[in-house]
Amino acid sequence: MIDIHSHILPGVDDGASTSEEAILIAQAAVEEGINTIIATPHHQNGKYINCKQSILENVEALNKLLRNENIPLTILPGQETRIHGDLMNELETDVILPLNHTNYIFIELPSGHVPRYTEQMLFDLQLKGLSPIIVHPERNAGFIENPELLYKLVSKGALTQITSSSITGHFGKNIKKFTLQLVEAQLTHFLASDVHSLKNRPFRLADGYNVLNKEFGAQAEYLFKENAELLVQNLTAYRMDPMKIKKKKFLGIF
Ligand SMILES: [Fe+2]
Repeated sequence: MIDIHSHILPGVDDGASTSEEAILIAQAAVEEGINTIIATPHHQNGKYINCKQSILENVEALNKLLRNENIPLTILPGQETRIHGDLMNELETDVILPLNHTNYIFIELPSGHVPRYTEQMLFDLQLKGLSPIIVHPERNAGFIENPELLYKLVSKGALTQITSSSITGHFGKNIKKFTLQLVEAQLTHFLASDVHSLKNRPFRLADGYNVLNKEFGAQAEYLFKENAELLVQNLTAYRMDPMKIKKKKFLGIF
């Protein structure tokens, strides 16, 4: 399994705090059946700055450590980039790091709302040849209150990633329900752990895929897993034709 969203790099954000903790997280990943993890430290979320170059160095160091410990896990470089006014400039100055140097880029929105300039910025990113992936839309109050906002962004080319602990119900019943609705409405394309620690924010990725399988069949599980593989190789992820997204059905749920 591939996990495309994690905070496994030690000492760079609110994820693993030490190398020892990163190793424990890596061991848990292997036990869960994960062989590849994209490290996506927070960037510009108001608390943490993690620029491309330092992430690359930290990923290299962690991979070395894992090899020394004989842990069969590969860490790929990435970044959880918070949407901010200077983002396009930071792209030009090589501060931004798309996932595994592909055209896919994580975009995190503030949890309480969807900034007005989101649609324009996602459009600008696509003009630069990038495929923005909105991380955990199911936990964003703006989308929960007004799902049409998400429909609009996805129909204009954005991709989205849901979190395994959301679909398993660990963020509460309402988040789980909304997450399942996003899958049903085909407004999401990737499942990932967003692991921060083994104690409070563990992987639950295998569990998450099991829920997908149980609720939507093996085909759904396969499609989400395949999309993670396609992403890492910079190939085109499966997505619905925006014209075919069941808007009425989706909006009728709320
Ligand atoms: Fe994250």
